[in-house]
Amino acid sequence: MTIADTASAGPSLTLTPEHEMIRQTARDFARNEIAPVAAHFDETGDFPYETIKMMGQLGLMGIEIPEAYGGAGLDTMAYVLAMEEISKVDAAHGTVMSVNNSLVCHGLLKFGAEAQKRKYLVPVASGEKIGAYSLTEPMSGSDAGNMRSRAVRSGDGYVIDGRKSWVTSAPVADIILLFTMTSPEKKHKGITAFIVETDRPGFSRGKKEPKLGIRASATSEIVFENYCCPAENRLGEEGEGFKIAMTVLDAGRIGIAAQALGIAEAAYEASVEYAKQREAFGQKIGEFQGTGFKIADMKTRIEASRLLIYSAALAKERSKATGERYTLESAIAKLYASETAMFCAHAAVQIHGGMGYSKELPVERYFRDAKITEIYEGTSEIQRMVIARSELGLR
Ligand code: CAA
Repeated sequence: MTIADTASAGPSLTLTPEHEMIRQTARDFARNEIAPVAAHFDETGDFPYETIKMMGQLGLMGIEIPEAYGGAGLDTMAYVLAMEEISKVDAAHGTVMSVNNSLVCHGLLKFGAEAQKRKYLVPVASGEKIGAYSLTEPMSGSDAGNMRSRAVRSGDGYVIDGRKSWVTSAPVADIILLFTMTSPEKKHKGITAFIVETDRPGFSRGKKEPKLGIRASATSEIVFENYCCPAENRLGEEGEGFKIAMTVLDAGRIGIAAQALGIAEAAYEASVEYAKQREAFGQKIGEFQGTGFKIADMKTRIEASRLLIYSAALAKERSKATGERYTLESAIAKLYASETAMFCAHAAVQIHGGMGYSKELPVERYFRDAKITEIYEGTSEIQRMVIARSELGLR
């Protein structure tokens, strides 16, 4: 039993029948369709087109997007519950889902013009097309405002040149939310967001990254050479790009926190099962205090992560009415949940001993998958910076 099952800290934390339904739908889908193929796609690094397509058909690729724009019309709590269930079985599917939902769909819904929503949000939220988000460059990751790629006004559009890196889903994406410089002298205030169609001339994909974990999700560089982007594909006004990128990442970080929770739970449940069965020195290893304490710490951190994620999800939900930022809640949830995922995956390998190091069990995959949650969509150091600045009243 988890806090999620017994939540009674107030009406806001009570799960509705709709929440239970989406959680069960995601759980059943993950167990029946993703679990049988997860190890295969992890091994090959191929993209799991079929299951991602099915996730779209189930409404999992645009959970918070209104039905009128192709989504499932549910709330942030529904989104985190589904993310957790999918990621518990395979974090790589969770990565594709998270980028599509909380970076691309959320960005288009919040900042897109009506025509952009009709043209781009509908197919991405319904899972018919796949979306990606591109902020990072080879020479700027955490220092996101310091970019070298350029968009130069030309006639009734822009010409884009430059190279972006570490773009999740880039090898398969139909559209990409791109952040690039239109006025370099203005630094972060010179960044503008664009909706890029990947089938236009001037766009190409670089080499696919050979990754440690989340191997079934596809990541690559993207290259722009004289790419002509119509002005109608600018998202927001010139110079608003950095704020759009940061606002969207606040939403994205909640999704990554839920992904991390899913990985942590998978590692925890495997450990409990193993500790109850495996014997050493004439007793179950769970009876040794060394194992029991690990289990206790895993469980405590998991339940704390869950509450932080729910708190961030509720803050985001409130923000839909008030417009208030939830940067702090989101950073805290991501920081704690991602470090919990790493903590639990590390403990799970140790509890499993040699079997934790073997590809015969998924425990080593949880360990490899957990690490990225401390890195992408803002490293743990960036989350600490965001939290500290907020608490100290800096900037
Ligand atoms: N929401 C809205 N506005 C925000 C904001 C937020 N969360 N955070 C900052 N801003 C605004 C500030 O208010 C400020 O506005 P003004 O200029 O009007 O005053 C402006 O943005 C600049 O803010 P800072 O001075 O704080 O900017 P900074 O350069 O010091 O950077 C940072 C702040 C938090 C470090 C930011 O650069 C950051 O989050 N870096 C990490 C980037 C990141 O997460 N990258 C991952 C990319 S996606 C990915 O991982 C791959 C993938 O495919 C998923």
